[in-house]
Amino acid sequence: MSIHIEAKKDDIAETVLLPGDPMRAKWIAETFLKDTVCYNEVRGMLGYTGSYNGKRVSVQGTGMGIPSALIYCHELINDYGVKNLIRVGSAGSYHKDVKIRDIIIAMSASSTSGINNSRFINADYSPTANFELFMKAALYAKDKNIPIKAGNVLSADEFYEDDFDSYKKWADFGVLCVEMEAAGLYTIAAKFDVKALAILTISDSLVTKQKTSSEERESTFNQMVEIALATL
Ligand code: ADE
Repeated sequence: MSIHIEAKKDDIAETVLLPGDPMRAKWIAETFLKDTVCYNEVRGMLGYTGSYNGKRVSVQGTGMGIPSALIYCHELINDYGVKNLIRVGSAGSYHKDVKIRDIIIAMSASSTSGINNSRFINADYSPTANFELFMKAALYAKDKNIPIKAGNVLSADEFYEDDFDSYKKWADFGVLCVEMEAAGLYTIAAKFDVKALAILTISDSLVTKQKTSSEERESTFNQMVEIALATL
């Protein structure tokens, strides 16, 4: 048992899918996994272990933002020996050609979070996806004709920015979309020498101000989870 997860050591698989929303963790477990057991209810941050095509896999809610996600990632890696961490989440588009429902694989994650500024003083660190997980996800999507985009994303500290036009600067430098966890995930994975990948679906657009309905979110979430599970 760790501080925020009440599971026993072997209750959690080596590969964990990480949605921000704990109810998404429940939905993924119920929809995709067999022989599922709930191993965590502490703070309502649900975690499940089951099997997918005969392979053991867990799914753990992380909450929103880098500080919350880092708590769960730290404990999964250090207390439970997790080796592969795959975020499955939503993101807001920064480009007119990154459309609602598009699936984005984050090759790298820029950030407005202070975690790496205070580590690498007067220097930039580039949180980066694991190449092996990235290739598996990209090749699966190609094989199944699921369109994906890949590139740099922004992991923001604030959902509600003072200046909503501040996205344009990031967009000018090729950042595809905004979410709130990938840079933390990639950094902690590098620190502890484990593998990480963030797969995102576009739920809203800062360019067009469009938003997806909950039904639309569900169907694209399906394909994203399928891609994540293909990395097993
Ligand atoms: N996740 C989904 N949409 C987002 C947005 N607009 N900003 C930050 N995180 C998001």
